[in-house]
Amino acid sequence: MKNPILLAPSLLAGDHSNIEQSIIEAENAGVSWIHIDIMDGIFVPNTSFGLDITKTFRNFSNLFFDYHLMVNKPHEEIDNYLNCGANNITIHIEADHEIKSTIDYIKSKNCSVGLAVNPDTNVDKILPFIHYIDLVLIMTVNPGFGGQSFISKCIDKVKKINDIRNKSNLHFRIQVDGGISSHNSKICINSGADTLVCGTSFYNSLNKTKFHKKVLEV
Ligand code: DX5
Ligand code: ZN
Repeated sequence: MKNPILLAPSLLAGDHSNIEQSIIEAENAGVSWIHIDIMDGIFVPNTSFGLDITKTFRNFSNLFFDYHLMVNKPHEEIDNYLNCGANNITIHIEADHEIKSTIDYIKSKNCSVGLAVNPDTNVDKILPFIHYIDLVLIMTVNPGFGGQSFISKCIDKVKKINDIRNKSNLHFRIQVDGGISSHNSKICINSGADTLVCGTSFYNSLNKTKFHKKVLEV
């Protein structure tokens, strides 16, 4: 059975002076997931939400919290985001850690685990871990900033991972993140993506309920 297709708005594009309102706007648009980007200024040349503010997000939302760790030593930070109420934690294949043991640790805490791959990284690097994860994140921009243009060559990776998923009868989600809008959502979905992260396109849309519906259309 196929995974239901879903939209995960990226809080990075929300109003950082009123995150509560930005989460409520996502809830009101009918989504079930919210994507929370964590950046350490080392793995990517930017920072996002500090731990103290991130801890408060659970106070005002029951959404599925999808943490995307763009950090160099993710294994040192897993407990922090478990304490923030993470439902999924995605780590990067390019980061400096023992990938299998980080995956095992996250799973041992009953949290879903994702593995992300940057646009210039060969997607085959994911393959040794594919049986152990719940989500593959194909980055469609170089991580670090919202509002960048979608890199269309990344679609080939979505297709490849989707073929492998089908042939191996696996059920992990395929997520795309970066420059996703209603202009390219169809090609992502038709290529096998089932989890669309939208930052700028979601928070800039005037009618977020309509955007939610439109972006999931095939
Ligand atoms: C980029 C982040 C994305 C970002 C997407 O490094 O991982 O989640 O918020 O933003 P948009 O949709 O604006 O490209
Ligand atoms: Zn992200």
